[in-house]
Amino acid sequence: MKGLVLSGGKGTRLRPITHTAAKQLIPVANKPILFFVLDNLASAGVTDIGIVISPETGDAIRDAVGDGSSFGIDVTWIVQDSPRGLAHAVMVSRDFLGDSPFVMYLGDNLIETRIGSFVEDFERSTTSAMVLLKSVDNPSAFGIATVDEAGRLTRLIEKPSNPQSDLALVGVYFFKSAIHEAISVIEPSSRGELEITDAIQRLLDSGADVESRIITDWWLDTGKKDDLLAANTTVLETWCKGIVRGKVDASSRLVGRVDVGEGSVIRGSQVEGPVVIGRNCTVTDSHIGPFTSIGDGATIIDSHVRHAVLLESCTLSGVEQLTDSLIGRNATITRNGSDGAMRVSIGDDSYIET
Ligand code: G1P
Repeated sequence: MKGLVLSGGKGTRLRPITHTAAKQLIPVANKPILFFVLDNLASAGVTDIGIVISPETGDAIRDAVGDGSSFGIDVTWIVQDSPRGLAHAVMVSRDFLGDSPFVMYLGDNLIETRIGSFVEDFERSTTSAMVLLKSVDNPSAFGIATVDEAGRLTRLIEKPSNPQSDLALVGVYFFKSAIHEAISVIEPSSRGELEITDAIQRLLDSGADVESRIITDWWLDTGKKDDLLAANTTVLETWCKGIVRGKVDASSRLVGRVDVGEGSVIRGSQVEGPVVIGRNCTVTDSHIGPFTSIGDGATIIDSHVRHAVLLESCTLSGVEQLTDSLIGRNATITRNGSDGAMRVSIGDDSYIET
């Protein structure tokens, strides 16, 4: 079975961060979302993987993943020239996929479930497609499925305004080669994209058997800032190990699970886990955590930060309270003067709430 990871798109919902970075490379607990995806596939024995990239962010993704050997996978790079939908991404991957069965996995989706047992089920079955579903509170934001008592899909609709079910399509799909024929006959949706949801509905209409599995543990669609912070919180809760490789001085206190990367120095500070601090960071006279990830090379002085994701090389100085926040690379936040005025230099699509 081959793997197809979709890692294109423009990430408009995560602007401004995605002006300069691919959304799939945004880290959760200091690890890019895409790496969780590749690890999940590799641990299921899916090692022949095509990664679909866009011209805008493809190079950054290639640099991060390299030749795939650190994940134990072989990578084939596939460029999708514009974001014309998930089914279009399958179309442009046809040479790589051939007639092989494959698992398609959206590169910005984080699921806790290991997919190994689904891969085995699908390889043994004669079904044309299998989708993973999860019950959600806001079904209008997703592709939605109705299923019968045997778990067979009866109908799929992309982002319905009147949802008949709360079962959303999680971004993991299993296909046999019949999907290519279905994709070749669908038309672009109202948002101008070739929807994989419509192609699966087409399979159903042609009498094909489509199975589903409902997952009950967490699934985090990291399309927006608050989703990303929720993902960070959940991943830290589940996977933070509490490994200290850097230096923590005697006047500092680490409470709970705190990871401190190599070359980092914590002085006169309290860090309340779960927290991940990357490599070569300096934390001085500050309070960090809980639920905070700090990227490599950050400097934090005399500040209080909780429930936040800071990317690489940020500086915080004299910041009394920073919470529920996502801070991009090389950003600086400092307190300057005592007149209470705010002085900013922020990029397009930034958002400040005080
Ligand atoms: C896509 C799919 C949708 C699915 C979702 C999962 O939506 O079209 O069916 O539920 O991914 O993340 P999009 O992220 O393109 O809005």
